[in-house]
Amino acid sequence: MSIWRVQGGYPLDGSLTIQGAKNAVLPILAAAILTGCETELTNVPALRDVEASLDILRHLGCGGSRSGDVVSVDSRGLTGWCIPRELTGRMRSSIVFLGAILGRCGQVRIAMPGGCELGPRPVDLHLAAMKALGADVRVEDGQIVCTADGLTGGPVHLELPSVGATENAMIAACAAKGRTVITNAAREPEIVELQGFLRVLGADIDGAGTPMITVRGFSPNAHVGWRIMPDRIVAATMLCACACAGGDVELRGLDPAHTGSVAEELAAMGARLETGIRRLRIRCEDRLRGGRTVITEPYPGFPTDAQPLMMAASLKAEGRTVFVENIFSDRYRQAAELSRLGASIRVTGRTAVVTGVDRLHGAAVTAEDLRGGASLIIAGLGAEGETVVSDTGHVARGYEGFDRALEALGANIEIID
Ligand code: EPZ
Repeated sequence: MSIWRVQGGYPLDGSLTIQGAKNAVLPILAAAILTGCETELTNVPALRDVEASLDILRHLGCGGSRSGDVVSVDSRGLTGWCIPRELTGRMRSSIVFLGAILGRCGQVRIAMPGGCELGPRPVDLHLAAMKALGADVRVEDGQIVCTADGLTGGPVHLELPSVGATENAMIAACAAKGRTVITNAAREPEIVELQGFLRVLGADIDGAGTPMITVRGFSPNAHVGWRIMPDRIVAATMLCACACAGGDVELRGLDPAHTGSVAEELAAMGARLETGIRRLRIRCEDRLRGGRTVITEPYPGFPTDAQPLMMAASLKAEGRTVFVENIFSDRYRQAAELSRLGASIRVTGRTAVVTGVDRLHGAAVTAEDLRGGASLIIAGLGAEGETVVSDTGHVARGYEGFDRALEALGANIEIID
């Protein structure tokens, strides 16, 4: 259990370089086993989910090690094709090993994944994609079992633009004979990043970032290097942290375009934002204005992962801010905890209405999931007194040194593990 102690009332000031993206490195670590090769990844954040992925790779017989922000994977020694629940239960994105193992071994047995409780998190689209590529797919005793006597390229239509299912389809299609066209694909920047990695791995693939991705073939390389893109949700978190605490913060090393929808909402609320080459500066001196409706959608819409963070930023904004959560059915679990700080939030199904209050007061609260936990911490920055966040390790899954990063910007925060 981690205990975050946040003293409110300290504006943020300074600059911060954004860490590598969790949701980019996780599918890339899975894709690295598609062929027997040595992969070196740089700008890899120190996260629990990265450690969980390395544990899976080692369980499969691969080499997996870290030195600073460099992670090396040697998949030449891969022998396993099964991943037990004790490994998949630690994070949702363990599901993205499905396509990689099936593509490499022709068979895979993987226990249903764990991860943040955001409502039902089915894997039907992942399984449908494997079937479309010619695999026999069964679910038995909580295990997904796929076998394929060679995968065959072809049309893979996703009923929903699922990020994970798109990634699984892209990876498995590299091992398929013939051409694969994925339609209604997710368009997130992390999908484009995975395409870039698959290209250096030897794939003939294009279309990522659009709803149609085509994989034409795969000529594996033996040595691969890749630098992980910056984390757009961590960038959004820091923007919202400044909105909660007030101050003047410059984010460096990011692609401002990837955080555009969040920056636009904050600017409309009265924050002052300046965009530069791989930098984004936010200044929040006055009380923010509400009156917005924040609707989460697949990229390039407002990201669901930033919804809890924007909610924290709206708690003291003048007027009402309405949230509509279209991606996950149970992603307002932070609302009840934020209300303990004095926030006024009414949740009805997929809609949450925040009525801005003049002040928030510190309280003891509990992190229920990764982004919800981060929202409690940043809300504490703008509360009077001390906020104590109990966290069973959610935040460390996605944020590298979150306490140190905020402290370096002037926050009064400490974590007791
Ligand atoms: C990825 O999760 C991210 N995780 C999530 O970030 C993010 O919230 C989500 O995409 C949406 O952007 C990683 O990349 C590791 P989805 P994923 O499949 O792939 C439904 C974070 O905080 N669906 O795009 O699991 C699903 O229930 C995490 O970093 C099916 O119905 O999300 C949801 O309603 C949280 N069947 C919607 O699609 C399926 O087979 C979007 O889910 C798969 C998904």
